Amino acid sequence: MSKVRIGIIGSRFQADCIAASVKAMPEEMEVVAVASPTRGNAEAFARRHGISRSYHDYREMLRDPELEMVSITAPNRLHAQMTIDAARAGKHVVCEKPLCVTLEEADAMIDACAKAGVLLMYAEELFFAPKYVKAKQMADEGAFGRIHLVKQGEKHSGPHSDWFWDVEQSGGGALMDLGCHGIAFCWWFLGKQTVKSVYAQLSTQANAHRTQGDDEAITIIEFENGAIGMVESSWNRPGGMDDSIEVFGDKGQTYADMLMGNALPTYSEVGFGYAVEKAGSTKGWTYPVFEEHWNYGFPQEMRHFAQCVRGKETPISDGETGRVVQEVLYAAYASAGLGRKIMMPFQPKGIGKPIDLWKHPELAQAAI
Ligand SMILES: NC(=O)c1ccc[n+]([C@@H]2O[C@H](COP(=O)([O-])OP(=O)(O)OC[C@H]3O[C@@H](n4cnc5c(N)ncnc54)[C@H](O)[C@@H]3O)[C@@H](O)[C@H]2O)c1
Repeated sequence: MSKVRIGIIGSRFQADCIAASVKAMPEEMEVVAVASPTRGNAEAFARRHGISRSYHDYREMLRDPELEMVSITAPNRLHAQMTIDAARAGKHVVCEKPLCVTLEEADAMIDACAKAGVLLMYAEELFFAPKYVKAKQMADEGAFGRIHLVKQGEKHSGPHSDWFWDVEQSGGGALMDLGCHGIAFCWWFLGKQTVKSVYAQLSTQANAHRTQGDDEAITIIEFENGAIGMVESSWNRPGGMDDSIEVFGDKGQTYADMLMGNALPTYSEVGFGYAVEKAGSTKGWTYPVFEEHWNYGFPQEMRHFAQCVRGKETPISDGETGRVVQEVLYAAYASAGLGRKIMMPFQPKGIGKPIDLWKHPELAQAAI
């Protein structure tokens, strides 16, 4: 298979992750360009990853005829316009989570890609994380009988960039940022069933001084067959990233801790370079991870998307996946605003961002 030629939009946290993950699969794909607006950042990124071309305006990069696929690693508010522009330029799109901010944007993205005949792939790496894939394989074999509860939690000490804390740019807080993973995970794990209802408890426990957003979220999702998904999202967990699942059926259960379970229990009085994402210190007891990107599933995700571009696989995570997640996010914020569960489908129109339904319950009430 000839290498799929990728352009990355963005040059910081997730862009580094994608570039490293692509490099881990050198036979399948390569990053040939990067676009990022801040002077010097695109150039530095290109040097860091050995990329030949850098741009300040992503629209200029989209004119590059060599590019086949773009990976969008910019703030959430920009995902929709970038996807639509990329589709119009005839490029396949890998869009980071969450898919966008509004449901209208999700529809416009799906529509633009369909019209242009390009793939819209939703970057949910939990569908590729080796431990979680193994858990799903066992579940699909029947190892746990009828599954009645799937839990996923993602918790860390809070985002690294200011824009995450600004709900105008992010659309919401920890639920939007981290809960989108758990919602997608539960839905995928339980066979992509229709969501019946959503309930969420949200609060801002420790970060009211810096954000309007929620920093603690518990979301309960009821599926068509009666199974429950439970998603815990937190920006208040010091000590490094925690990503874990629990699966319960009438014939068994399994637990997976993505990062700590693979880590090296380590004690150091002097510290060392790096333990795990968001760990504030490497002194004392820590749990340094190895093969961090691989354990998340990022290289496997990008390989799958490259295979999809070559027509050899069909996306297991696409625009529709991102839209399902977006609708659950809207319902979860509405639930927290109204203090009760929201029956699906829930398609509020003209709501500028999901968190508005928590802050302004009257909007949620009007949307039911
Ligand atoms: N899959 C995951 O686990 C995961 C992890 C982290 C971030 N993300 C997602 O990736 C996206 C980016 O997050 P991040 O952590 O990399 O943020 P970041 O703040 O580290 O980087 C954002 C990048 O976007 C660039 N950008 C801003 N405006 C732009 C524009 N107009 N054109 C081109 N580039 C522009 C910035 O210059 C910067 O390079 C977010 O949607 C986030 O939710 C996903």
